[in-house]
Amino acid sequence: MNLSGITLILLDILLKCRSNPVGTTDCRVSNHLYVCLNDLNHLENLAFEDTTAVQTIDDIELHIESLDITDTSEKSFHDVRNATALYMSDNRLRLIRKYYFHALDQLTYLDLKNNDITEIEDGAFVRVSSLETLLLDGNRITRLGPTIWKGLTSLRELYATNNSIVLRKNIFRGLRQLETLALDANEITDIPTGTFNALPHMDLLYLSRNEITSLHQDLFRGLTELNELDLSRNRITSIPTGLFRNMASLDSLWINANRIGSLQAGCFEGLEGLSFLFLSGNELESVDMSIFEMMGKVSIEPGFIIDGTLSVNLTIVKGFVRCESTGSQEPYSCEEV
Ligand SMILES: *[C@@H]1O[C@H](CO)[C@@H](O)[C@H](O)[C@H]1NC(C)=O
Ligand SMILES: *[C@@H]1O[C@H](CO)[C@@H](O)[C@H](O)[C@H]1NC(C)=O
Ligand SMILES: *[C@@H]1O[C@H](CO)[C@@H](O)[C@H](O)[C@H]1NC(C)=O
Repeated sequence: MNLSGITLILLDILLKCRSNPVGTTDCRVSNHLYVCLNDLNHLENLAFEDTTAVQTIDDIELHIESLDITDTSEKSFHDVRNATALYMSDNRLRLIRKYYFHALDQLTYLDLKNNDITEIEDGAFVRVSSLETLLLDGNRITRLGPTIWKGLTSLRELYATNNSIVLRKNIFRGLRQLETLALDANEITDIPTGTFNALPHMDLLYLSRNEITSLHQDLFRGLTELNELDLSRNRITSIPTGLFRNMASLDSLWINANRIGSLQAGCFEGLEGLSFLFLSGNELESVDMSIFEMMGKVSIEPGFIIDGTLSVNLTIVKGFVRCESTGSQEPYSCEEV
C-alpha cells in the first residue's frame, strides 16, 4: 500500500471517531436506576440500581424525567423489561421511533408529556398491548397516522392536551376500550363528522381551549356512555338541534366561555340525565326555556334572573326570554317576551 492509501485509511478512522465517538457514554444513578446517555444525550441503556426502591404496590416504575434525553437506542430498555410504568416527561424527544417501547410489553402507564414530539412512527405501540394510560400532553404533534394506535387494545385514557393535532374521521379507531380522551388546547378549528367513531366506551371527553366555531349535529353520535363533555373556551356560536340525542348518560356539560347567542327548542334534546350545565360567559340573547323542561335534576351555572326573580327551577319556566349578560359569573338577566 502506498503512502496516500495509508493517509486515506487514517483519515477515515479519524472521521469515524469524530462522528461516532466510542467510549463517551456516561452512566449515572438517577431515581434508583443506572441511566446511560451518550454525548448526544441518546439514552443507551437503563438498568435497576435498586430494584426494591422502584417498586410500588402496583408498579415497577421507571422515572427518567428531565434528563434532556433526545433519542433512545434500540436496546435501551432491555434490562428493565418487567417495568409497568415509564415516566419520560420533560425530555427533548422529537421522534418516537417504532422500536422505542418494544421491550416493554408489561407497561400499563406511559408518560411522554412535555417533550418536543412532532411525530410518532406507525407501530410504536404494537407491543405495549397492556397499556392503559398514555400521556402526550405538551408536545408538537400535528398528525396521527392511520395505524398509529395498533396494539393499544387496552388503552383507557389518552391525554394529548396542548399539541396541534389535526382531527380526521376515524382518527381514534382501534382504541376500543378508550374511556377518557383529553384534547384541550390543540388549536382545533374543525371536528370532522366521524372523528369519534368506534369509541363505544367513552366516559370523559375534553375539548376546551380550542378554536371550534361550529359542531356538526352527528358529531357525538355513538358516544352513548359519555358522562362528561367539556366544550368550554371555544368560539362556538350555536348548538345544532339533536347534537346531544342519545346522550342520556351525560352528567356534566361545559359550554361556558363560547359565543352562543341563542338556545333554541331541541338544542338539549337527549340530556334527560344532566346534573350540571355550565353556560356562563356566552352572549345569550334569546332562550327558549322549554329546552330545560326534561332536565329533572340539573343545576345551571350561572342561572337566570327572569323578570327580576332568580329562577331556581327552570324546568317549570315556559316560553321565550330575552337576556343580557351582567358579567361572566353573574346570572343572565332576562325578560319574558
Ligand atoms: C424485575 O427485573 C429485575 C432485573 O431483571 C429483577 O431484579 C427484579 O426482581 C424484577 N422484579 C420483579 C417484581 O419481577
Ligand atoms: C404547552 O406546552 C408548552 C411547551 O411544551 C408549554 O410551554 C406551555 O406552558 C403549555 N401550555 C399549557 C397551557 O399547558
Ligand atoms: C322542578 O319542578 C319539577 C316540576 O314541578 C319537579 O318535578 C322537580 O323535581 C323540580 N326540581 C327541583 C330541582 O326542584
